[in-house]
Amino acid sequence: MRLAVNIDHIATLRNARGEQEPDPVAAALLAEKCGAAGIVCHLREDRRHIKDLDLARLRQAVTTKLDLEMAMTRELQQIALKTKPELITLVPEKREELTTEGGFDIARHFDVLTEYLKPFSAAGIEVSLFIEPEKKAIDLARQAGADMVELHTGLYALKENGEEQAKELQRIREAAVYARTLGLKVVAGHGLNYGNIAPFRDIAEIEEVSIGHAIIARAVMTGLEEAVKEMLRIIQENRS
Ligand code: PXP
Repeated sequence: MRLAVNIDHIATLRNARGEQEPDPVAAALLAEKCGAAGIVCHLREDRRHIKDLDLARLRQAVTTKLDLEMAMTRELQQIALKTKPELITLVPEKREELTTEGGFDIARHFDVLTEYLKPFSAAGIEVSLFIEPEKKAIDLARQAGADMVELHTGLYALKENGEEQAKELQRIREAAVYARTLGLKVVAGHGLNYGNIAPFRDIAEIEEVSIGHAIIARAVMTGLEEAVKEMLRIIQENRS
């Protein structure tokens, strides 16, 4: 199974001070160097983390696969067609949410969506739809012209009861198998972390997982020790 790393929260941290560090592009290159198969970023309407310039720089730097998560707006369509990521992932977006809260409602937007996707296939950009792990959504994704579906694992991640989590995992597994029978590529993401990812290894139909928050949160903690020690080394060094 491949790993795509979402680097949005490197930008969140950078934006907290309005300065240049940490740089999401440097983080993307590091993730690629460590074996990530792709880099994911979400250019939100409010630009709360990734900014337009980040996206342009990521396009220049990323050599594996750039996946641009975006809402179905005209503005983002133009930006995506100009930037040419290898893949776009359409997600529902609400201004007030802290993160994407659920799958895309294809039934509600079917006609608009089908038209919206056409220029992407013409431009050779693959399209993924972030959906709930449900047959109906998968059928509609296929009919609308998507190449891929990203199955929403947020509910799975939230379940604390083992039995309920196993049930949700089974729903995801069945959805993955079904999507593959329709010829769709299948990835999964949202809320996946070091403690809940293991069962996904056994779902062969899921080719890739998209993970952001858990990896960036872990990186801060695992890197903190070295960062503190290095600062101490400098301030405690004998004066020259
Ligand atoms: N997939 C999609 C479609 C998302 O919107 C997000 C969050 O940006 C992720 C995956 C990654 O989720 P998390 O940060 O919880 O790993």
